[in-house]
Amino acid sequence: MTNLTALALELDHLDTHPGRVVVFADPDAPLPRAAKRCDKLTRGAVARAVGSSEFGALKPGKGMTLAYPAGLAARALQIIRLPRKATSDQLRRAGNSIGAAQGEDAALIALDTLPLREIALHAALRSYRYEAMKAAPKSPLGGLLCAVKDPEAAKPVLDDATALAQSVHLTRDLVHAPANVLNTESFAAQIAGLADIGLSVEILDRDEMEKLGMRALLAVGQASDNPPKLAIMHWKGAEGPPLCVLGKGVMFDTGGISLKPGAGMEEMTMDMGGAAVTVGLMQALALRRAPAHVIGLVGLVENMPDARAQRPGDIVRSMKGDMIEVINTDAEGRLVLCDMLHYAAERFEPRAMIDLATLTGAIIIALGHDRAGVFCNDDTLADGILGAARDAGEGAWRMPLGAEYQRQIDSRLGDVKNTGGRPAGSCTAASFLERFVPEGVPWAHLDIAGVALTKGDSAHAPKGASGWGVLTLDALIRTRFED
Ligand code: BES
Ligand code: MN
Ligand code: ZN
Repeated sequence: MTNLTALALELDHLDTHPGRVVVFADPDAPLPRAAKRCDKLTRGAVARAVGSSEFGALKPGKGMTLAYPAGLAARALQIIRLPRKATSDQLRRAGNSIGAAQGEDAALIALDTLPLREIALHAALRSYRYEAMKAAPKSPLGGLLCAVKDPEAAKPVLDDATALAQSVHLTRDLVHAPANVLNTESFAAQIAGLADIGLSVEILDRDEMEKLGMRALLAVGQASDNPPKLAIMHWKGAEGPPLCVLGKGVMFDTGGISLKPGAGMEEMTMDMGGAAVTVGLMQALALRRAPAHVIGLVGLVENMPDARAQRPGDIVRSMKGDMIEVINTDAEGRLVLCDMLHYAAERFEPRAMIDLATLTGAIIIALGHDRAGVFCNDDTLADGILGAARDAGEGAWRMPLGAEYQRQIDSRLGDVKNTGGRPAGSCTAASFLERFVPEGVPWAHLDIAGVALTKGDSAHAPKGASGWGVLTLDALIRTRFED
């Protein structure tokens, strides 16, 4: 990942830095000292730029770039518009503008006394590209040199931002990786490698899950040559009952016998997005040595059509015992998660459980691509998640659970159907999961089908996998699950 380093702001350095130099300016206030220095070197070009109507029309956080400015050694001088008392949203936007302009050379960012965390974190988040599948990858992106007043104080802030940004990038890499490369086994092996940073990892295989009675999960993967895996990551940074985070890890979702249409099916390589966020989050907790007890579980399967595949109409026994009538084999995520939720609740007696899943197309119809759906049986937990999402700058919106939805999925032949028809498709999916959460356990389900991949450049990620959720859950854990 793009390196974040702190150094003391020395004005001479602005003259000689060969890459990109970034300064900040507010058209309604005197130029800060770094911008003033560049203005002097460029014989007034900075002041003219900042005084222009074009600069005046920029939204706070956006910037203007002067190429090969005379008087500086720099390749480019980026001037970011930022009010003196900037809001966190404006600081995040400033970081995004810096990250979006990042090239293969290092950027010297004259932050001075500006709030470091938001700008540096969001610059690092935005400065990302996925090149693992290119025969000839470009050179890596250059570093972000944060020139600040007090580099000693900046160090822990940047370490923290680095841990988070690296983990969001890990989530994005996992989501981008194609299903022929990242399959259940290679993903499980990669997770096992997180033992190196201090997570304890267990991997359950088919036989072990069979013994536990996880027939619903196993039914989804039974037609694939890639064997199902359940990976469990323990981070014990504190005593007491854990928070369990669970991720849907469908490595590829063809729909199974209820086959999806061909157009766009290649996108279903992202159907392990919930698992990718869970893994990114667990890595972030370990890297920053979070004083919290968190267990991450990811259920890894591939949903294929084949002679061994489950059929619409099959009735399977879940680990909990409830008999599930499989109306549509494409509603497979809930079959994976229901056994995981039951298992996690029974084994770990958690303080709370949060699952993440690219669960329904219906959530995209309801909320679009900027807000994840938050379904929750506990108002305190729901408020915590919505507040954390706000702090992290990620979109989230609460969605309903209720008896009406439960009725929609009652089964005539078994106990519960895995689909409830078209109306309220994401609510019936969440309500299905709710049946597998024991009474009294605070639980939230985050439907991230709309936010896991963005169609264009988004607020803090380039087009493609966003890593949505790592920041929100990390913020939630800091505020609600640490002492
Ligand atoms: N993985 C899909 C949901 C999805 C759709 C994720 C689009 C990302 C983008 C899920 O397994 C699925 O197929 N859901 C069905 C449920 C239906 C059969 C009840 C859906 O949403 O159509
Ligand atoms: Mn599906
Ligand atoms: Zn799916």
